[in-house]
Amino acid sequence: MRGIVLAGGTATRLYPATLGVSKQLLPIYNKPMVYYPISLLMLAGIREILIISTPHDLPGFERLLGTGEQLGVRFSYAAQPKPGGLAEAFIVGKDFIGSDSVCLVLGDNIVHGANLAKLLQDAAHQREGCTLFGYRVTDPQRYGVAELDANNTILSIEEKPKAPKSNLAVIGLYFYDNSVVEIASTIPRSARGELEITDVNNVYVQRGTARMQVFSRGYAWLDTGTHDSFLDAANFVQVIERRTGELIASLEEIAFRMKYITAAQLAERGEAMKQTDYGQYLLAVARGDA
Ligand code: G1P
Repeated sequence: MRGIVLAGGTATRLYPATLGVSKQLLPIYNKPMVYYPISLLMLAGIREILIISTPHDLPGFERLLGTGEQLGVRFSYAAQPKPGGLAEAFIVGKDFIGSDSVCLVLGDNIVHGANLAKLLQDAAHQREGCTLFGYRVTDPQRYGVAELDANNTILSIEEKPKAPKSNLAVIGLYFYDNSVVEIASTIPRSARGELEITDVNNVYVQRGTARMQVFSRGYAWLDTGTHDSFLDAANFVQVIERRTGELIASLEEIAFRMKYITAAQLAERGEAMKQTDYGQYLLAVARGDA
């Protein structure tokens, strides 16, 4: 399976903070926002990762992430010239996906909870159809909203409905079989001129091959769309990390625990940042002390 991180857009709701820099390069507490979605792909066992951003912001991501060798993964980069909807990722990423299955994660989605790696790996191992993740929220009208029957089968998904049929938001993390490439190239553009991910998902719903995994209580799915939700996300990460002494979405730690890199390679990364608590943490993990 291949992974795509979509980190485009203009983030107008965060102006002026995002006038000079891509939203997904801004820090959520101690690491760039894009670390969080990449961590989900790495935990799922995905090592071939395409980063899609605007032509203007792409160099920033390349500076940050490089080839991926230091994390035991491979990053490729592609530009989405104009914001044309989330499903355009499968058109921009067509050659990268080839005949493989693919996971799309939005560059601003943060998920945290117990046994997350297992949930993600189970989704990555599905051979057919798609796996979507649902999260119960108090403001479903801001998201794609799924209606389920008593057996957890998806009946419909509506994008930003004025009168939501449930409080179950579809989060920005989607696992698809290879047919997503063909689906994305055949759906029509929506009224706002975009290829909507919800339209792609509804094709799978109609074919009866869409699965829904609902996150249980205790999971956190955080949004970074506004100044306040952005700060809430940073505060959440700080509270959990300081209380437990464990980092959320440290790509270097995940690479080591997934056995993509050795303890010596991890220690090297820690050394390079040793003046920060982040670097000291990597050194402790490499020694087996954390
Ligand atoms: C997008 C999707 C929506 C999904 C959300 C998750 O919305 O269109 O279905 O629930 O991401 O973050 P956007 O953030 O582009 O408004």
